Amino acid sequence: MYEISDNKQLAPGYNLLKINAPLVAARIEPGQFVVLRIDERGERIPMTVCDYDREEGIISMVVHAVGKTTKRLSILKPGEKILNVAGPLGVPSAIKKYGHVAGVCRQGTAAALYPIMRAMKEEGNRVTVVIGAKSRREIIFEEEMRAFCDRVIIKTDDGSAGSRGYAVHGLTELLKEDRADLVMAIGPTTMMKTASKIAIAHGAKVLVSLGAIMLDGTGMCGACRVTVGRKTRFACVQGPEFDGSLVDFDELKRRQRMYLKAEKISLQAFEREKETETQKTDR
Ligand SMILES: Cc1cc2nc3c(=O)[nH]c(=O)nc-3n(C[C@H](O)[C@H](O)[C@H](O)COP(=O)(O)OP(=O)(O)OC[C@H]3O[C@@H](n4cnc5c(N)ncnc54)[C@H](O)[C@@H]3O)c2cc1C
Ligand code: FES
Repeated sequence: MYEISDNKQLAPGYNLLKINAPLVAARIEPGQFVVLRIDERGERIPMTVCDYDREEGIISMVVHAVGKTTKRLSILKPGEKILNVAGPLGVPSAIKKYGHVAGVCRQGTAAALYPIMRAMKEEGNRVTVVIGAKSRREIIFEEEMRAFCDRVIIKTDDGSAGSRGYAVHGLTELLKEDRADLVMAIGPTTMMKTASKIAIAHGAKVLVSLGAIMLDGTGMCGACRVTVGRKTRFACVQGPEFDGSLVDFDELKRRQRMYLKAEKISLQAFEREKETETQKTDR
C-alpha cells in the first residue's frame, strides 16, 4: 500500500498529490510515469511523476480531475492509502545539449513538462517555456518554471494573464524572434499536432509526449498503440515521447475517444454514489 503524504489544490480541478513510494522515487527520471490503482476494483491509470524526493521516498504528480479515477484521486486525504503504484515506466526524456529548448504546455501539463525542462537547463541548455491556460486561475507551475527558465511566456484564452491567445500562438511568436533547436510539447493532442507543425516550419526538432490510453503500461496489452513514422509503436514502453513530425495525431485522437460512453456512465454512477453519501451524512 502507498500512503498519500500530501494533497493540495493548485487550481480548480488540479491537485498536487504526493505519495510515499520509495522504490519509484529512487529510480524515476524526467519524462517517466507510473501506473496506479486506488483499490482492487479500481481502474489502472498512467500519471506522470512531476517531481521526486529520493531521500524522503516521495513522488509528486498533478492530477487533473476529468473522470471517475482522477476525481477519486483528487479527494484522497493525507494518511489514506492506494493499492498500487507501478513504475518507473516509459523511456526517460533524452536530456542532452541541444542549444535552445522551447517547451510548450497547457494548464496541468506544465507539471509534466517541468522536470524535463529543469533537467534540460541543468544540462546547459537555454530554456524557454510557453504556458497556455483558459484564464489566470488555471495557470500552474509558473513560479516553479520561473525559478530556472531563461524566459517564461504566458498565454491565456481570455487575456487575464500574459497575452491573449493559445500556447501555440506563443510558440509561433517566440520562434519568429528566437530560433529553437528543440521544441518539447506536452498537452492536448490538437495542441501537440499544431506545435509540431510550427516547430517543423521553423526548422526545429520536435518531441511530444503522447497521452495514449494505457492499461498495463508494460507493452503486453496493446491499448497504447500509436502510429509513428507509419510504424506501430507502444507508447508505454517505446514512448511516451516521440518525434512529433512522425506521429499520426488523428489516429491518436480517435483512440483516445474510444471509451467515451463507458467513461461517462462510470463518472455519472460515481457522482450519484457521492451524492447519496453526502445526503446520508447530512441527515
Ligand atoms: C503517459 C501518460 C501520463 C499521464 N499523466 C497524467 C498526469 O500527470 N496527470 C493527469 O491528470 N493525467 C495524466 N494522464 C491522463 C490520465 O491517465 C487520464 O486522464 C486518466 O486515465 C483518466 O481516467 P479517469 O477515470 O479519471 O477519466 P475517464 O473518464 O476514464 O477518461 C477521461 C479521458 O482520459 C483518457 N483516459 C481514460 N483512461 C485512460 C487510461 N487508462 N490511460 C490514459 N488515458 C486515459 C481518455 O482520453 C478519456 O477520454 C496521463 C496519460 C498518459 C498516457
Ligand atoms: S499500456 Fe498495454 S501495451 Fe502499452
